[in-house]
Order: sequence, then structure tokens, then C-alpha cells
Amino acid sequence: MAQLERDHWTSRFGFVLAAAGSAVGLGNIWKFPYITGVYGGGAFVLVYLGAITAVGIPILIAEILIGRRGRRNPVGSLRKLGGPWWSLVGWLGVATGFVILSYYSVVAGWTLEYAVKAVAGAFNVETTAAIPAMFGEFLGDAERQLFWHATFMALVIAIVVGGVAKGLERWNKILMPALIAILLILLVSSLRSKGAAEGIAFMFRADFHKLTGKAWLEALGHSFFTLSLGMGAMLTYGSYLSTKTDLVRAAVIIGILDTLIALAAGLVIFPVVFTFGLEPDSGPGLIFKTLPVAFSEMQGGRLFAFLFFVLLAFAALSSAISLLEVVVAYFVDERGWSRPKATLGMGAVIFLLGVPSALSFNVMSTFHLYPGMSFFDSLDTLATNYMLPIGGLGIALVTGWRIARGALREEFRQPAAFRVWYPLVRYVAPVAVVVILLHKIGVLGYLGLD
Ligand code: PHE
Repeated sequence: MAQLERDHWTSRFGFVLAAAGSAVGLGNIWKFPYITGVYGGGAFVLVYLGAITAVGIPILIAEILIGRRGRRNPVGSLRKLGGPWWSLVGWLGVATGFVILSYYSVVAGWTLEYAVKAVAGAFNVETTAAIPAMFGEFLGDAERQLFWHATFMALVIAIVVGGVAKGLERWNKILMPALIAILLILLVSSLRSKGAAEGIAFMFRADFHKLTGKAWLEALGHSFFTLSLGMGAMLTYGSYLSTKTDLVRAAVIIGILDTLIALAAGLVIFPVVFTFGLEPDSGPGLIFKTLPVAFSEMQGGRLFAFLFFVLLAFAALSSAISLLEVVVAYFVDERGWSRPKATLGMGAVIFLLGVPSALSFNVMSTFHLYPGMSFFDSLDTLATNYMLPIGGLGIALVTGWRIARGALREEFRQPAAFRVWYPLVRYVAPVAVVVILLHKIGVLGYLGLD
């Protein structure tokens, strides 16, 4: 039977590393620092920590649990545990995998380009004003965009085709320790820079006056993206996990690792930003436009820059493989495809879907899905603002209201952990997600609650 042959992690450590690899990605190193910068620092960080604890980790436990009990991809597991209607949440997850990976690969490609730029000494220029302009120039270069997007997807496919133990687990065991080592090297050097104290204060001194309603919602939304929740990535990884593993412990370790790495990324970036008198709130361009200015002025900046962009590329790769794995698991389990066929076929489809995103700064810049938004931004908005929260809501509801309480309890080692977790998935998480969604569609603003 297919079920007995199902590939699995070789150890609990392998699973935790792979799941942490999925969680730690562009969300931690690119997005977390820039949204912290935009929303004003310390107070935002506190709200984010609260969201991870009260909503993120409980849903993470729910996803791994459903995968482990269902032993299938998101569609199959949810059908088995929740019934045919709930398998729609799994379908949404598979669709989300297509969408996110298509543009995630484009951004991951930028990190490869920037790693190469760093080695080539492209940031050693006379006037640093040329550096932010470099980013715009690169975005507009259709061929380079496509080249890096294709290169990155080829790497993702090459890893996923190897399967769970020999592909995903083996590569995470290389990428994750390398990522942590690079991060520590960068951290030591940035904490010794002149702007260290200012950078630390920016991240940890909480000024609640700066905290807007939008910041609360952004923190909650980001806790989904950063923990890879709401689309069945953690569910799929859980489906390869042995029942011997302590679920709560694994989820807490994954959550803590993801959070520590996001905080460390902030502590690498902000001291450097302040040392060179740059602005922390420059938004998505923070690491591609602002940071290279600092790299060009600091001693050893070329090496620092190279390590930084390699770090990003590694983080992106270990997340991207989990995105493709969701899609592949679906075609293997439900359609009976072989792994190579599913990986190559769907990897190619995702590459094609990413082409308009890669070209949306140039050839296709006049093509809009949402008015006034590039194709790239439209997909990101669609996925992070709608698809992930709706998927997360589905996961919380099926767990809290549909699967029998007794069945859930069986999956827990400690009764106390179950008692804390259950009301969080049953009530707190769904309410929190509904509030985010109402905000996104503007209902709260309409009611004057924003
Ligand atoms: N968690 C990843 C990051 O922080 C993104 C991701 C989302 C990966 C959803 C898989 C599934 O970059």
C-alpha cells in the first residue's frame, strides 16, 4: 500500500530542522526587519511576539497534528479528518503553494543577483547615491530577472525531486546550520558597530504611541507568513512525521527558532543602518537599496554583503522547497503521479506562473490584476492578505470544531498543554483571523474601528 511506503523523516531532529527551514525565509530576513522599521520598532516587536505565541504556535500545532494523523497531503488529510467539505481548505492550500512560490522565486532570484553583485564589488562606487538606483535598473532588466528566477526554480526542483529524506531533509541539514553560522558571524560584527546601541534600542524600546491599529493586524498577518501557516506546508511536513515525536515540543522549538532568527536579522540590519545614518523605515527596499549603501561604506563590506545575500538565498531555498512539496505531495497522493513527474511538471508550471511577476517591473509593468498594483504585488497581496489567513481560519475551525476532542487529546503528551492549546485554536485563533480579514476588506474602517 502506498501509505506504508510513504517517505518519512529519518529523525525528530530532521523534521524540526526542515520545518524550521520552511519557517525561516524571506519573511524573517527581508520582511520582518522592514515592517518593524515601518511600524516603529519595539512596540511592534512586542505585538508580533504575542501573535506568534497566542495564534501562530497553536495553529502550527494544529497543522502538524492534522498531517500526522491524516498521513497525506493537505487535501487528503483534511478529507480524511474533516470530510469532503473541509478538503476545500486543502485545495486552497495547494493553490496558495502555486501562487506564493511563483513570486517568492522571483525575490529569491534577487538575492542571488545581489550575492553576485557583492562579490563583483558592485557596491564599491564613488557616490553611494548610485546604489538605490541599481535596484531599479535591475528590476527593469527582463533577461536578468528571468535568468535568476529560472536558476532558483531549478535549484528548488533539484532538491524536491530527491524526496523527503534524501532531498528535503538532507538539504535542510546543510542549509540551516550554514544559515545560522552566517547569521552569527554577521551579528557579532554588526553588534560591534557604532550604531549597535541605537539599533538595539530601536528594536526593543517599546513606544506604544507609535502603535497603530494597522500595526496590530500586520503583526498578526505576518505571524502566519513567517511560520508558513495557512497553506498546508507544515501539515505536509507533519504527514511525514512519526507519532513518537512530541508535537508540542517540536512546534515550540520551531516557533522559537523562527522568532530568534527574525530578531537576529533585525539586529544585523538596524545597527548597520544607524551606523551609516540611514533611515530604518524605507520599506521593502530596505535590504536591496538601503543596506548596500552601508555595505559600500563599511570596512570589509564586500564580504559582509556577500555573506548577507547568501544567507538570504539559503533561507529562501529552504522555504521554497516546502512550498513545492505541498504541490508535489498532492499530485503524488491524490493523482498517483511519480515524484519526478510531479516535481518537474509542477515546478515548470510554477516557473511559468512566475514569469509575469519577474517581468512586472518592465515588459508587463502596465498589466494590472488589481488597479494600480503590479502583477507581482497583486499576487503577494492576494496570497498573504487573503489566501493564508482564510486557510489558517479553515485549519483552526476544522481542528477546534470538527475533529473530535478526544482524538485531538490523544496526540498530546501533556494534558496541561492540551488544556492551554484547545481554547486557543477553538476561539482565540479564529476570532483573531476574522478580525484581520474584516480589516483587510475595509469593514473595520467603515465601522470607524481602524
Ligand atoms: N515562512 C516563509 C518565510 O518566512 C514563507 C512561507 C510561507 C513558506 C508559507 C512556506 C509556506 O519566508
